[in-house]
Amino acid sequence: MPALGVNVDHVAAIRQARFTNYPDPLKAALICEKAGADGITIHLREDRRHIQEKDCVLIRKNIKTKLNLEMALSSEITAFALKLGPDDVCIVPENRKELTTEGGLDVFKNKSRLKKIISLFHKKRIRVSLFIEPSVKAAALSKELFADAIELHTGAYARAYGYARKKELIRIKKTAAFAVSKGLILNAGHGLDYENTPPIARIKGMNELNIGHSIIAYSIFAGLDQAVRDMKKLLV
Ligand code: PXP
Repeated sequence: MPALGVNVDHVAAIRQARFTNYPDPLKAALICEKAGADGITIHLREDRRHIQEKDCVLIRKNIKTKLNLEMALSSEITAFALKLGPDDVCIVPENRKELTTEGGLDVFKNKSRLKKIISLFHKKRIRVSLFIEPSVKAAALSKELFADAIELHTGAYARAYGYARKKELIRIKKTAAFAVSKGLILNAGHGLDYENTPPIARIKGMNELNIGHSIIAYSIFAGLDQAVRDMKKLLV
């Protein structure tokens, strides 16, 4: 059974929409852990659109499971991450205009920067994962660059239907088998939900799935009834 890393960025995104001090992503992280999450994932974006530095510090200090920090190839964020000391970092591509991480990291274009950054994290005993498209070539290069893990971008799989989804699943499985055979830790994530996750979770050697949007979206309906009842009680 793969581990579940819950991405709590989406909680911070609601908070930042109003610049209030709630909902608190740390509180969300602690609930996730209590419910069985094996790790917490956060993405400190260069534009700070959701998670802020102070969230990273509080979450790092207070969670009992492991912390996975997603980050772009940026020297500013790297310096912060090295100080923060997450258990894992996952290097992702970042584009200011995107709604979310749109594609996998271009490991070919960023070879030398990646090699440097990976060695900086290894000196601090922080594992490095590269968020790549399901591609054997990209997985092979990740291994050459001494990445500990790859996280396969499941976005295209999640968006596809029918035959197209089957084709995406084959691409993911092929890359997964290659990665496992080379000793890479195999993770996956993006767009995974309550319907499309099981085939990914069943892939041999799958170590961890990082899931955020669908879980936070589900939690609205799991809790909306209570939220309205509690407000009604105050209207006396
Ligand atoms: N993994 C990575 C590397 C991501 O960038 C994201 C999105 O922040 C996720 C997993 C989680 O994706 P989702 O929110 O669609 O479940």
